[in-house]
Order: sequence, then C-alpha cells, then structure tokens
Amino acid sequence: MSDEPESRATLSARSFDDETGLDEALRPRTLDEMIGQDRVRENLSVFVRAARERGESLDHVLFHGPPGLGKTSLACVVAHEMGVPLRSTSGPAIERAGDLAALLSNLEAGDVLFIDEIHRLPAAVEEILYPAMEDFHLDLVIGQGPGAQSMRLDLPRFTLVGATTRAGLLTSPLRDRFGWMARLEYYPPADLERIVERSARVLGVGVAQEAVAEIARRSRGTPRIANRLLRRVRDFAEVEGGAGARVTRETARFALERLDVDEGGFDRFDRGLLLAILEKFDGGPVGLETLAAALGEDKGTLEDVVEPFLIHEGFLSRTPRGRVATRRAREYFGIPLGPAARDQPELL
Ligand SMILES: Nc1ncnc2c1ncn2[C@@H]1O[C@H](COP(=O)(O)OP(=O)(O)OP(=O)(O)O)[C@@H](O)[C@H]1O
Ligand SMILES: [Mg+2]
Repeated sequence: MSDEPESRATLSARSFDDETGLDEALRPRTLDEMIGQDRVRENLSVFVRAARERGESLDHVLFHGPPGLGKTSLACVVAHEMGVPLRSTSGPAIERAGDLAALLSNLEAGDVLFIDEIHRLPAAVEEILYPAMEDFHLDLVIGQGPGAQSMRLDLPRFTLVGATTRAGLLTSPLRDRFGWMARLEYYPPADLERIVERSARVLGVGVAQEAVAEIARRSRGTPRIANRLLRRVRDFAEVEGGAGARVTRETARFALERLDVDEGGFDRFDRGLLLAILEKFDGGPVGLETLAAALGEDKGTLEDVVEPFLIHEGFLSRTPRGRVATRRAREYFGIPLGPAARDQPELL
C-alpha cells in the first residue's frame, strides 16, 4: 500500500517517456520527410543550397507559430540539410550570460545552435546574443569593480535557429538579427492525411483510408495532435481487436468521441472557451483576463494554444474591446444572439 503513490509516479513517468520517444521517432529529419508548409520548405531548400554552394553557414533563422506545427522538427532539418551537428537549448534553460557565452564559445564553424522558446531568454543573456549573431564575437567583462576588463572573443560563424510560439514578444533588436523569419501555418486536412499515413507506416499500424481522413480532419490542423490521436485510436483498435488490429473508420470515430474530440475537431478546451463566451458573456466582447478567470485556465495557454486555432477557423475574433464568438461559433453550437449583444455590430 505504502508504495502506491511512488509506483503510480513511475508509471506516469514511463508512459510520458514512451510518448516523447514516439514523438522523436515520428519527427521528420529531412526536407523530403517534412510534409506540407510548402512555402517554408521551398525557401529553406533555396537558402540551404545557396549557402552550401558558397561554402558558408546558413543565415540565422526564426521559426514561429502555434505549438506542434514543426518548429523543432525544422531545426533538425536545417542541421541535417546543412550536414552539421545541432546543438539544442532553450530560453528558460539559459539563466546567466555566462551560460550562453560558454555555449557559443564551444561551437564550431557551421554548427547550428537551436534555441527553443527564444522569447524567454533573460534580457542580460539576450544582449550577449546581439554581437554574437551580427559580428560573431562575444564581449566579455572579466573581473569586477575598477579592475574589470573587457575582452573581445571571436566566434566561429554559426547559425542560430530560434523557435517561438510568441514572435510578438521578441524584442526588435533580436528579431532584426534573423536573416529569415518563417511562420508556420496550421496544416490543411490533406497534408495531415499524409502525415497520419506516414506515422502509421513508421508505427506499423494498419489504418483504413476513412479512418486516416477522420483523424486528419479532427486534429486542429496540428501534426502533433494528429500523431497523438493516431496512437490513441490504435489503442482502442488493439483493445478491441487484439494486437496489430487494423483501425477502421468506426473505431476511429468511437475513439475520437471517447477522447472528447467533437465532429468539428474541437477539444474540450476549444468548446469550453467558445461556450463560456457565448453563454456567460452573451457572445462577447470579453477581456482575456475575465475569460481566463471564468474558465480557471492560464491566460497564456488560452492565448498561445487555444485561441489561434479558433481564430484561424473563424470561430473567434480578437477585437480592441475583447474576445468575440463569431456567428459561425453561434451557429455551430446552435446558440442565438443574446439581447445584450444585439447592438454590437461586430457580432452581426
Ligand atoms: N511537417 C511535418 N511533417 C510530418 N510530421 C510533422 C511535421 N511537423 C510536425 N510533425 C510531427 O509533429 C510533432 C511535433 O512537431 P514539433 O515538435 O517540431 O513542433 P513544434 O512546433 O516544435 O512544437 P512546440 O511549439 O510545442 O515546441 C513531431 O514530432 C512530428 O512527429
Ligand atoms: Mg518544439
């Protein structure tokens, strides 16, 4: 009895590891394996070829867009296509300027340094990055007080790849030092179908075409979600039909319903947010703070994860006065416009 909590913790840690491991296994590593985002892929392929032909390192690049669309994957692709190692870190992991200085001075010419969540770099660390990105040198201050000396250290020409879900939070000096900023967009169902097919092949799961389409259509335009749904749907298929069971349209539909993903592909956070606006705030406008408090959710999560997809689908709009559920949202949930909202032109 007494060790129950511990074994439970170990179990969840293990399943988490398995999931992360699978995410890694499904990650595209080359431009050819990467599906969709045609514009980004085509541009990247040109920049890589040009840099390679000149024998230079690739210019610094920033990938931005909602979670799970392939930013980290693209960082791996960049390193792979340039034929160089990838060194990874993240904004919150670099606490002091010295940490970044150590990382940078250990790079070799051509290396790709990947900084995930780059908008979370502390200001003092960011300042080290400016001269490093622009002129490939570090300005170090050695010692303290009157005896302190400043020293300039030359760095090899490296490529910085940054990723962020919040490009708007980047300071403009940092943003300006990227030679290319690529925005990732939500994937159309046809691309997600190809992604699900590829993942099913990698995982060795047989999936009927209608089931592929069902998963793709209900994945919030996001490859990570498509892959996650595929794995969960496979679980349902195997529990029902034994190991190696093929995923049919019926199993997929049943599993998606169990996973609380509705016909429109909305999960419970999406529905919670839209229904709160529609039912509690008469369709809006309602401020983000108020909405977050009403839902008991973190403001940042709503803004970065939930809202972008609803806006993309035309169910939500951000107005200067707050969030508004659109007519499409009202129609989807079958909720008519409340009396207080009738004089608000943005709702009609
Ligand atoms: N274009 C793609 N083709 C095939 N699979 C993809 C593609 N983009 C993403 N994936 C799959 O989705 C998963 C998540 O992608 P990735 O980790 O690159 O997203 P991200 O944008 O870095 O997310 P986050 O913002 O949460 O860090 C990958 O492990 C991969 O399996
Ligand atoms: Mg990532």
